[in-house]
This record gives sequence, structure tokens and C-alpha cells, in this order.
Amino acid sequence: MSNEVIERKLGTIENLPTLPIVLRQVQKVMDNPHSNMNQIAAVVAKDQALASKTIRLVNSAYYGLRTRIPSICQAIVILGLNTLYNLMLGLSVIKTFDTTRLLGFDPQKFWEHCFGTALLSKKLAEKIGYSDPEECFIAGLLHDIGRLVLQQFLNNEFEQVLLKSESDKKSLLLAEREVIGFDHSQVGMWLAEKWSLPEMLKVVMRYHHEPRILPGEFKRYSQVLSIIAYANYLCGIASIGNSGDNNYQEPVLPDLKLPPESICRKLTEEVKVEIVSVIAQWTQN
Ligand SMILES: [Fe+2]
Ligand SMILES: [Fe+2]
Repeated sequence: MSNEVIERKLGTIENLPTLPIVLRQVQKVMDNPHSNMNQIAAVVAKDQALASKTIRLVNSAYYGLRTRIPSICQAIVILGLNTLYNLMLGLSVIKTFDTTRLLGFDPQKFWEHCFGTALLSKKLAEKIGYSDPEECFIAGLLHDIGRLVLQQFLNNEFEQVLLKSESDKKSLLLAEREVIGFDHSQVGMWLAEKWSLPEMLKVVMRYHHEPRILPGEFKRYSQVLSIIAYANYLCGIASIGNSGDNNYQEPVLPDLKLPPESICRKLTEEVKVEIVSVIAQWTQN
């Protein structure tokens, strides 16, 4: 399925969510090896509301830091610019979508699934010694954004998808392809391109249900992709939030050294306990 087909159907939507300009500017300074700390902090500070929200999240129990971080400069030093960007991106995406209740859609359950996948991905990453667990959190949080687009902008068709998936016990992906002609993973990648998101996020959005077909050119993301795919699967079968799926296939994960099953079960139970407070910290106004 080419992007043109999706573009034809979704590209004309006028109120498609956009991200704050400051995120693009942060990306630019991140890519420039000559940027210094003050320049970066100045760019971040251009969006005061987002900057203070980010600082508040950094200082919330989510991070469990011992000392308070008072400024963006400090946050960059302690967490790194990449993590700071990820936090700003996550906060922006959550805010940018209109999450009113739609036919067949409960936004709370949707975000529970996303936060559950994010939290479990981070825990799995820590357990197996993946280099950047925080990166896994943001990828888990955003993996299903394509679903939000379909739900919001093709609501009637998506309602048919859900009915078909339920009555035929079909995977969500197959039902979407049959009813709409493309699926939420393809829409996720399309949106990620529109938003100029980092390549890793595009890859996770596109292949989280099908890690086995990851093209060779993206092989460097196979570990993070496998972590998200597995966390997504575990959250689905544990009914953490609503994944929208009615047919769970354990994803094929050739590149992931999984922790023992008992550990995965324990981590999933931890997520069930922690998820309410994590969502509260991320969504506080
Ligand atoms: Fe998905
Ligand atoms: Fe999912």
C-alpha cells in the first residue's frame, strides 16, 4: 500500500493535528554539532507552556529523581537532549489530539493501552539491558497513533472495522485493510512523515504488528521494534486498556532476547499497578 492512497484519503483533512513548531526547531539544534547548551535551552524556552510542562513531568514521580531539576539547561545535562525531546514530543502528541468520545471509541482505554505499552516497553528494555529504555517508552506511547487518526477522521469506516474484527475474530490490521484499504500502522508512518518524526518512531509505528517484515535498511531498529511489538502483545492479552484487537498473535521476535516468562508476567503486573499514576503525571494540566 503506497502512501499516495493514504494521502488521497487523509491528506485533504483540514484539521489534521499538527505539532508545535518548537519541536522541529529542537530537532534542528540537536542535529547541529555546533549547538551549545544555551542555544538549545533558548529554543526550548520559545514554547514556555510546553517547557514548563516538561520540567514538571521531569520533576514528577515518573522520573523518581532525588533532586529537583529547576531549569531546561539542567534537564538537558541530567537527562540528555534526546530524552528531553522525547518528553516534549509525547506531551505534545497527547495534547494535540481531540480525544472526545467517538462511536466505538473510549479515549481513556486507548491511552491506557498506549501508556501500558510504553511502561512495559521501558521495563522490558531495562531488564534486557537495552541502551535507551526512555526511547522505548516514547515509541510505546506513540506506536498506535495511526489508530487515533482512523478513529477520529474515518470514524464510520473504523466502526465497521471494529465490528468486522469482533464478528470474524480477525486481527485489527486485517479488518482495517479489508474495510478501509490500509491499516493504522501505515497511517502511523504516513503521519510520522508528515510530522518529520525521528526515523525510529516511523519504523515502530509502521512495523509494530509485523516485525518480521522489517526491511533490511531499518535493521538497526529491530531491537526497539521487537520490544514494542512484544509489550504491545503482552498488554493486549493482559487487557491493559483497549488495543482494539480481537486476535492476538505472538509477534515473531528473532532479535529479542526475552526475559523468562515469569519475569514478563511480573513486569506486566507492575504496569497494571503503576499505570494510573503514570497517566496522571503525563496528563496533568
Ligand atoms: Fe497497533
Ligand atoms: Fe497497540
